[in-house]
This record gives sequence, C-alpha cells and structure tokens, in this order.
Amino acid sequence: MKTYNVGYLIGSIAKDSINRKFANALFKLAPSQLKFAEISYRDLPIYSYDYDADYPEAGRKFKQAIKSSDAILIVTPEYNRSIPGGLKNAIDWASRPWGTNSFANIPSGVIGTSPGAIGTAVGQQHLRSILGFLNSPQMNSPEAYIQFKDGMINDAGEIADASTAKFLGDYLEEFHQFIARVLTVLPRDA
Ligand code: FNR
Repeated sequence: MKTYNVGYLIGSIAKDSINRKFANALFKLAPSQLKFAEISYRDLPIYSYDYDADYPEAGRKFKQAIKSSDAILIVTPEYNRSIPGGLKNAIDWASRPWGTNSFANIPSGVIGTSPGAIGTAVGQQHLRSILGFLNSPQMNSPEAYIQFKDGMINDAGEIADASTAKFLGDYLEEFHQFIARVLTVLPRDA
C-alpha cells in the first residue's frame, strides 16, 4: 500500500484553537494511506528579505519540512476575512530566498472552521491565491467550509455528527486521490 506523508499547518497558534481541535478530529477520519505530521512555524521571526543572505536555522528547517512532505494540508481560521498573519509569515519564509520556493509542485489542500456561517470561505480564497502564486497544485474540489458549533466535536475528540463525518472522510479520500494523481506526473524524487 502506497502511503503519503502529509505535512499540515494549523493557521492558528491559540492554545484553545478550534482549528487544531478540528484538525485532530479530522485526521481520525483519514484513509490509512495518509500519514499526518504537523509542521510548526512558532519559532519563525517576522520575515524580511534581510534574512535571505544567511537564512536562520528555523527558516531552513521549516522549508525542509515543507519540501520533504508528499503533500501539505492547511487547516486555518479566517481572521479579518483573510488568513492569520502568523500563517502568512510562515508561508513567506517557505517561499524565499528567491528561486527556492518550497511549495513549488507540492500538492496542497485547504480546509478550516469558524463559528461564523461562511466557515472560513473568504480566508480560504485568499490562501488559494497565495498557493497558486507559489505554484502548488491545489485540490480545487471538494471545498470544505466548516461552521464550528458546540457539540460538533464530542468528548472523545471525534466529529459527532455522522453526515459531517462522512463529508470529511470523503474530503480526505478525495485528497488522497488528488495527491496520488499529482505525484504521478510530478514524482517527488524528480
Ligand atoms: C476572528 N474571527 C473571525 N471569524 C470569521 O469567520 N471571519 C473573520 O474574518 C474573523 N476575523 C477574526 C479576526 C481575529 C483577529 C480573530 C482573533 C478572530 C473569529 C474566529 O473565527 C474565531 O476566533 C475562531 O476561534 C478562530 O479560530 P482558532 O484560532 O480558534 O482556530
């Protein structure tokens, strides 16, 4: 069975992040071919191109973690109708120095949850624009805009509602198939 290492980024660094809780519940629904590992960006300072001449260890490690993943999944809240600044900063680190964009040709997916009815839809569109610019092949469909409600995740950390769990399981199976398709034409060792 071919397995894929999916590096994931949580767009929120809040200790009680609902997106982190959601991500943990989501991964319980994943097909066995997908192996998830978090890529942390907490140690990154605010990016400036002044760092490019001598990229710090945290920046190099972050870039390597993106580059060595078979795919990237970003689970993010929407902040002020966009993505959180910390996440954007991390993506900027991965994109530089010029000519070494770590997202190039890495398949990606986006998903997120917020208490609002549109469930991060606008933030996800901003993220899609960024990933497009960075030449990351993105899963376009299905989209997943998840409204976070009390009781959505039960005490066992699972998605409580069966139809939501089915939708999310299908989302991850589609992501699996998407990764397999992309890596057929863009093999990771090429
Ligand atoms: C928010 N929130 C929010 N929600 C939303 O649906 N659209 C938005 O544009 C915003 N904007 C926004 C800005 C800032 C600075 C904060 C702190 C919050 C509310 C947000 O969805 C809520 O706080 C979630 O709990 C954020 O997800 P995490 O950080 O808990 O994973």
